[in-house]
Amino acid sequence: MSTTDATTQVTVKSPDRMQELGRRLAGLLRPGDLVLLSGELGAGKTTLTRGLGEGLGVRGAVTSPTFVIARVHPSLHEGPPLVHVDAYRLGGGLDEMEDLDLDVSLPESVVVVEWGEGKVEELSEDRLHVVIARAVGAEAPLADEDDVREVTVTGVGARWAGSDLSVLQEL
Ligand SMILES: Nc1ncnc2c1ncn2[C@@H]1O[C@H](COP(=O)(O)OP(=O)(O)O)[C@@H](O)[C@H]1O
Ligand SMILES: [Mg+2]
Repeated sequence: MSTTDATTQVTVKSPDRMQELGRRLAGLLRPGDLVLLSGELGAGKTTLTRGLGEGLGVRGAVTSPTFVIARVHPSLHEGPPLVHVDAYRLGGGLDEMEDLDLDVSLPESVVVVEWGEGKVEELSEDRLHVVIARAVGAEAPLADEDDVREVTVTGVGARWAGSDLSVLQEL
């Protein structure tokens, strides 16, 4: 990470707030943006994406794409579609992603990739990297009950240089 990268950290205390963070994040996004979501199973990546879909105003419920690798949610108005990718089983990286033959133009979409680290960065020189971690000091393993997540959002590339991501902190 270079010192010019825009970055912010947000403490998220419940799934509802994680969704709210997604809605806020949507307000920063425009067509062509790539968002990578990192964090272990159950961290809240899909929960965040659900809020993001609401914020973008797209059709269809955002769920864990367990049986499909990617799902396209068209906009309900004039906005960009949301392409939600679960790259967990995407072994071959970008080539496989292109083979998915999504009926959508990635440069005209907002693309959100769970488990995309190290796999889909080539899609764009610019990306927003969201890392979701259990709060330091939490003892229990990730479980279904509400608990605190520390979310770090970093903008990489010219697209995000100098962006003020602190608007995401007003939860
Ligand atoms: N602060 C929190 N933020 C997000 N999810 C939380 C939080 N606390 C508890 N949870 C729970 O953790 C789970 C997150 O699941 P999900 O979003 O599918 O994770 P992932 O996509 O990272 O595997 C949900 O069951 C959610 O209710
Ligand atoms: Mg998920």
